[in-house]
Amino acid sequence: MTDQQSLPARTLPLILFFLVASFVSNGQEIPSEPAAISAGEALFNNNCRSCHRVHEKLIGPALAGVTERAPSVDWIISFVKNPPAVIASGDEYATALFDQYKPTMMTAFSTFSDEDILNILAYVQAEAAKGPATAEAPAEGQPVSSAGEGVPAAYLNLILIGMVIILVLLLIILVFLISAVKRFLDQKDLTPEQRELVHAPFTLGTILRSRGFIFIVVFVVAALGFKAVINGLYSVGIQQGYAPAQPIAFSHKIHAGQYQIDCNYCHTGVMTSKNANIPSANICMNCHNQIKQGTLTGEAEIAKIVKAYETNTPIEWVRVHNLPDLAYFNHAQHVNVGGIECQTCHGPIETMDVVRQHSLLTMGWCIDCHRQTELNTKGNAYYDRLVELHSKQSKSNMTVMDNGGLECSKCHY
Ligand code: HEC
Ligand code: HEC
Ligand code: HEC
Ligand code: HEC
Ligand code: HEC
Ligand code: HEC
Repeated sequence: MTDQQSLPARTLPLILFFLVASFVSNGQEIPSEPAAISAGEALFNNNCRSCHRVHEKLIGPALAGVTERAPSVDWIISFVKNPPAVIASGDEYATALFDQYKPTMMTAFSTFSDEDILNILAYVQAEAAKGPATAEAPAEGQPVSSAGEGVPAAYLNLILIGMVIILVLLLIILVFLISAVKRFLDQKDLTPEQRELVHAPFTLGTILRSRGFIFIVVFVVAALGFKAVINGLYSVGIQQGYAPAQPIAFSHKIHAGQYQIDCNYCHTGVMTSKNANIPSANICMNCHNQIKQGTLTGEAEIAKIVKAYETNTPIEWVRVHNLPDLAYFNHAQHVNVGGIECQTCHGPIETMDVVRQHSLLTMGWCIDCHRQTELNTKGNAYYDRLVELHSKQSKSNMTVMDNGGLECSKCHY
C-alpha cells in the first residue's frame, strides 16, 4: 500500500532529472549518426588535419578525449570559431594550452557553424573509440589495405581456433579414457609395482615432460609461424600506402593544394619524358629566396633548402613510387598522349602533407586500366586510321588493349 503511493514520488525526481539533463545538453549533443561522422571526417581532413591528429600530438594537441578535458562542448565551439579571442579573454584553460603550444596559435574557423564543429567532434569520438592502431592508417580517407589481404588472414584465424578446440576436446577424451583404464586395472590383481605405476602422481611436472604436451607446444608454434609466413607472402612487393618521411617537410597540400602551383612547374619532365623528375633546390629557391618562414614549421624546414642550395648538395628525397627495373613506364605517354590526370594514378596528391603511394602499382593494376580505358584518339592524326580499322571489326570503342596495350613487350623488354 505505502509502496504504491511512494512510487510516483520516487520516480518524479528521476524524470525531472532527465528532463533537465536533456534540456541542458540540448543542441550541444555530439551526434553519433554515420552521416554526421562522415561529414565531420571531411571537415576534419580539409581543415584540421594539417595540425591535428586524433591520437597523436602534431602542431596542436591530439584531439582524442578533448570533450572530456576541455571545460565544455560550448567552450570547444567558441574556441574553434575564434581561438585568439578565447585566449585573449584570459580563459584559464585556453591560456594554459596556448603557453604549451607557443608560438603557434590555432587558426580561427569563424565561418564554421555549431553543427560543423559538433560533426567534427563526432568524427573525433568515433575515431578515438576505434583506438590508435586502425584509426590513423587510412589517412585522408583512402583505405590503405589492398583487396584480398584480410580474407586469408581471417580464414587462417578460424582454422587455428578450430584446431585448438579440437585439441582441447581430444585432451578431455584422453583424461576420461585414462580414468576408465585406471578403474578397470584396479579390479585386476596387480603386483605392488604395477599398482604404483598405475597410480603415479599426475603433477604439473609430469604434464610438462609428457610427449603430448611437447607435441602440442611444437604444433602451436609451427602453426603460428606458418600463419606469419603466409601473411608476409601476401604483402610481398605491394607498397600501397607507403609514405616515407622526407628530409624536408615539403607539403603538396600547401604548394599544390593551397597555393595551386601547377604540378608541371616542379615535375618538369611529366609532359615530355619517361620520368616526372623531382625538382632541384633551384626550383624551390625561385620562391624561397623570398619566403623564409612557413606557418606550420617556421624557419627550420625552409632553412634546409637554402643550405642545400648554398652548399650545392642535392636534397636526398626518399623515393615513394618505384617499379622494378623489368617494367617500363612512361609519363609522357600517359599524361600527354593519353590525357590521364595525375590523380588517377597518384590519388589526391594536393591534399597530402606527406606523399603516399595511392595505387597498387602491380602488373594487374596496369593491365586492368589498359583493358578498361578508351584511347584518347581525338585530334591525334596518328590514330585516325587505326580507329577506322577498329570500328570495322567491333562496335565498342577502342581501348588501350586494342592498341596492343596488353603485349608483354610494350612493358617488358
Ligand atoms: C594551424 C594549425 C591548426 C589548425 C589548422 C587547427 N588547429 Fe586546433 N589547435 C592548434 C593549436 C596549436 C592548439 C593549441 C592551442 C593554441 O596554441 O592555440 C589547438 C587546440 C585545439 C583544441 C583544444 C585542444 C585541447 O586539448 O583542449 C581544439 C578542440 C581544436 N584545436 C580543434 C580544432 C579543429 C576542430 C580544427 C579544424 C576545424 C583545428 N583545431 C584546426 C592548431 C591548429
Ligand atoms: C613546389 C614543387 C612541387 C609541386 C607544385 C608539386 N610537387 Fe610533387 N613533389 C615535389 C617534391 C619536392 C617531391 C619529393 C618529396 C616528396 O615526396 O614529398 C615530390 C614528390 C611527388 C610524388 C612522389 C614521387 C616519388 O618519390 O615517387 C608524386 C607522385 C608527386 N610529387 C606528384 C605531384 C602532383 C600530382 C602534383 C600536382 C598536383 C605535384 N606533385 C606538385 C615537388 C612538387
Ligand atoms: C611557386 C612558389 C614556391 C615554390 C616553387 C616552392 N615553394 Fe615552398 N612555399 C611556398 C609558399 C607560398 C609557402 C607558404 C608559406 C606559408 O606557410 O605562409 C611555402 C612553404 C614551404 C614550407 C613551409 C611550410 C610550412 O607551412 O611550414 C616548406 C618546408 C617548403 N615550402 C618547401 C619547399 C620546397 C622543398 C620546394 C622545392 C621543391 C618549394 N617549397 C618550392 C611557395 C613555393
Ligand atoms: C598512368 C598512371 C600515372 C599517371 C597518370 C601519372 N603517374 Fe606519376 N608515376 C606512375 C608510376 C607507375 C610511377 C613509378 C615509375 C617508375 O618507378 O618507373 C610514377 C612516378 C612518379 C614520380 C616519381 C619520379 C619519377 O619520375 O618516376 C613523380 C614525381 C610522378 N610520378 C609525378 C606525376 C605527375 C606530376 C603526374 C601528372 C602530371 C603523374 N605522375 C601522372 C604512374 C602515373
Ligand atoms: C589509369 C589508366 C592506366 C594505368 C593505370 C596504366 N596505363 Fe598504360 N596506358 C594508358 C592509356 C590510356 C594508354 C594509351 C596512351 C595513348 O594514347 O597512347 C596507355 C599506354 C601505355 C603504353 C603504350 C602502349 C602502346 O600500345 O603503345 C605502355 C607501354 C603502358 N601504357 C605501360 C603502362 C604500365 C607499365 C603501367 C603500370 C605501371 C600502366 N601503363 C598503367 C592507361 C593506363
Ligand atoms: C601494361 C604493362 C604490362 C604488360 C602488358 C605486361 N606486364 Fe608484366 N609487369 C608489369 C609491371 C608494372 C610489373 C611489375 C609489377 C610488380 O612488381 O608487381 C610486371 C611484372 C612482371 C613479371 C615479374 C613478376 C614478379 O613477381 O616479379 C613477369 C614475369 C611479367 N611481368 C611477365 C609478363 C608477361 C609474360 C606479359 C605478357 C603476357 C606481361 N608481363 C605483360 C607490367 C606489364
